[in-house]
Amino acid sequence: MFPVDRPRRLRASAALRDLVQETRLTVGQLIYPMFIRFGSDHKIPIRSMPGIYQWSIDRALEHLAVVQEMGVRSILLFGIPEHKDAMGREAYDPEGIIQQALRAFNEHFPQLTLIADLCLCEYTDHGHCGVVKDGWIQNDESLELLARTAVQQALAGADIVAPSDMMDGRVAAIRAALDGHGLINTPIMSYAAKYASGFYGPFREAAENTPEFGDRRTYQMNPANRREAIREVDLDIAEGADIVIVKPAMPYLDILSDIKGHVSVPVAAYQVSGEYSMIQAAAGHGWIDAKRVVEESLLSIRRAGADLIITYFAPQYGQWRQQGM
Ligand code: PBG
Repeated sequence: MFPVDRPRRLRASAALRDLVQETRLTVGQLIYPMFIRFGSDHKIPIRSMPGIYQWSIDRALEHLAVVQEMGVRSILLFGIPEHKDAMGREAYDPEGIIQQALRAFNEHFPQLTLIADLCLCEYTDHGHCGVVKDGWIQNDESLELLARTAVQQALAGADIVAPSDMMDGRVAAIRAALDGHGLINTPIMSYAAKYASGFYGPFREAAENTPEFGDRRTYQMNPANRREAIREVDLDIAEGADIVIVKPAMPYLDILSDIKGHVSVPVAAYQVSGEYSMIQAAAGHGWIDAKRVVEESLLSIRRAGADLIITYFAPQYGQWRQQGM
């Protein structure tokens, strides 16, 4: 009790604060998402995400050199196909955009960890994450296509596959397909607790995957639910998930905290497009200090339980760290 207890004693200097800091953040814990499209010499700005672009493979290679220079070691890849169709064929075509990107990136940057986002929504003309029949997203029929996509991604050199579709049973289907092709060492990082979130708004422009009808509420989780996240995570781990993701991140810190206390696999959090854009917009107006808020947001996500964080700020944060913040 005061006056004996004075928590301020341990805050008196920068060195002392550093000594007793509970949560730390390194650039090696961050994963940088990138959008890759067909063609050459493309670096197309995404209006709603200042600083983020759609890249053709040639320009992406130039960017990756810079990104790696800033200390980033892991990349999450999203593809924008040449043609979309009802079955999302380019997702599992050996010559699909992500398969081409994986081969090129591996050749030039063998040290980078390349994570392939595994979903059909960028590749289907209706924009949903699975096969659609009579207005319903078909679960079991979609699994086969997702499994095929995983195999093609792994064969093309994906170090990790990351299913983000939220179909039931997809981790088991993907694990079985990978193992059936001898790809026993390809980890699955599953978007286990993925909520139907308005915070994905800017991503729809970046990945061109807006659903043509309806929304994703029949497969993504209801934002009002907390215990259900544990159920989803338990199922994915039982099916073979090596890493589980909670998404979005900052509005779901309670979920992160629950999951961290519940599982023994690494827990990832995805600081999604809307979280990025809100910080960028406010900082762009001079209303908040980007450096402070970015670091604080990432530290909060770590403190709540994330071992690793997927964030569009990864290279920027790496650069700030190199400059001593
Ligand atoms: C698609 C997918 C989405 C995101 C990652 N994978 C969008 C969605 O489910 O609608 C969102 C990422 C972001 O907002 O940054 N399967």
